[in-house]
Amino acid sequence: MLDLVTDKKHDETRQGEVFNAFVDDPNQYRKLFYIESYGCQMNFADSEIVASILNENGFGATGNFKEANLILINTCSIREKAEQTVRKRLTEFRKLKQKTPGMLVGVLGCMAERLKSKFLEEEKLVDIVVGPDAYRSLPALVEEAETGQKAVNVLLSRDETYGDISPVRLDSNGVTAFVSIMRGCNNMCSFCVVPFTRGRERSRDVESIVNECSDLFNKGFREVTLLGQNVDSYYYTPHSSKDGASISPITFAGLLELVAKISPELRIRFSTSHPKDITDDVLHTIVKYENICNYIHLPVQSGSSRILQLMNRTYTREWYIAKVDRIRELIPDCGLSADVIAGFCSETEEDHANTLSIMEYSKYDMSYMFFYSERPGTLAERRYEDDIPEAVKKRRLQEIVEAQNKLSLESNKRDIGKKFKVLIEGNSKKSDKDWMGRSSQNKVIVFPKENHHLKKGDYVNVEVNDCTQATLLGQITNV
Ligand code: SAH
Ligand code: SF4
Ligand code: F3S
Repeated sequence: MLDLVTDKKHDETRQGEVFNAFVDDPNQYRKLFYIESYGCQMNFADSEIVASILNENGFGATGNFKEANLILINTCSIREKAEQTVRKRLTEFRKLKQKTPGMLVGVLGCMAERLKSKFLEEEKLVDIVVGPDAYRSLPALVEEAETGQKAVNVLLSRDETYGDISPVRLDSNGVTAFVSIMRGCNNMCSFCVVPFTRGRERSRDVESIVNECSDLFNKGFREVTLLGQNVDSYYYTPHSSKDGASISPITFAGLLELVAKISPELRIRFSTSHPKDITDDVLHTIVKYENICNYIHLPVQSGSSRILQLMNRTYTREWYIAKVDRIRELIPDCGLSADVIAGFCSETEEDHANTLSIMEYSKYDMSYMFFYSERPGTLAERRYEDDIPEAVKKRRLQEIVEAQNKLSLESNKRDIGKKFKVLIEGNSKKSDKDWMGRSSQNKVIVFPKENHHLKKGDYVNVEVNDCTQATLLGQITNV
């Protein structure tokens, strides 16, 4: 126990040094870059890889874009609105660039991949365009752009995982971190642009994942979220051992187990699970290890089998319900959340009612809810008409949001009187007299600090005594 305490102190200092050297001591770097990320967690994780690559090449990060020599924007294409947000931001950067000779602007991520060099025609003041598999070439592209040329690399790869790169943690709370375990996606959900922007699915070397997680733990981090578009299809075949004996491939359940064994003090989360691929093995592994969180994000998209088929999700309403039942059977207190799309091509009021009823059945604690946005090049764009009027899409989405609000409040109310082990992430947003942390089920819990000598990264038991729709409120308890 004593060792652990000493270790923690040591690691906190090291962690402090790493971040200070990176963010607060810009003088040691030749140039400064500023990076802004949009979209999913994978994009945020990628920005940390980009930061590491740039760092190695003499660029330091700054949080102030006005002092940057290089402004990067890591973009998302998932819905039209995501792209509009990026374009708006680029207009702001354009004004600054016009006033600042030598400043470079680069577009990274999914929108760069989707638009390729068209980006340079559309957004005249962008200098660099780099797709998600080409970040290693960024330093060379910057050099090229410095000579006044436009620099583009949007090649997708079948094997790039950036497995050997240690991400530089940007904007970190020092407690929770994302770790990419795979890239790309082989599913062809008809609404989705990701297979086109991120390429083929590939799994990252298991050893590099476990090393990254151990390293995070040694630096004081206490929670890792393993990231992939479809984590359940993680599959890695280690190179054969020196004596030639064959080594069995590692599945997602196997990977979870290896990460869980790093330390019982390290929490593990993962995202995203695909209902067609999540296995009993994974559920049993969650049960076996207390530090693998009882929480599954299981996007449903629609509650209508007919729409699910058009979406090419490859499961039916019944299949999804059976998965929810199985999760509840094996992990009775499992937190569950989903993604839901309103107004997909040809969706009827009855299909929509089926979505509302599957939400009710699944009792999601939380959902990400969207109305359908047609994306160029996707199967749906080529095959189906985007025929639901925007007003109808919005009304259905509103109903979905209201249904979720009700479910979230009910779910939180069910937790009143219960005790949870909470990992402290930092001060609550509203008051530095309160801590904010999460339960295993991924619910945010806010509670008074009182006179306990706790710090972020510590675990504490909290009894819930009140709630809002979004947050549990509680009190520290000894048992
Ligand atoms: N790989 C994950 C999610 C990736 S995108 C999965 O398979 O679940 C995140 C969410 O965005 C999706 O789950 C979906 O709900 C939503 N989404 C994707 N494409 C969309 C589109 N064209 N219009 C509206 N929502 C979309
Ligand atoms: Fe898109 Fe489907 Fe792949 Fe998720 S699983 S990224 S929704 S294609
Ligand atoms: Fe967006 Fe690309 Fe992620 S499209 S959601 S940033 S994989």
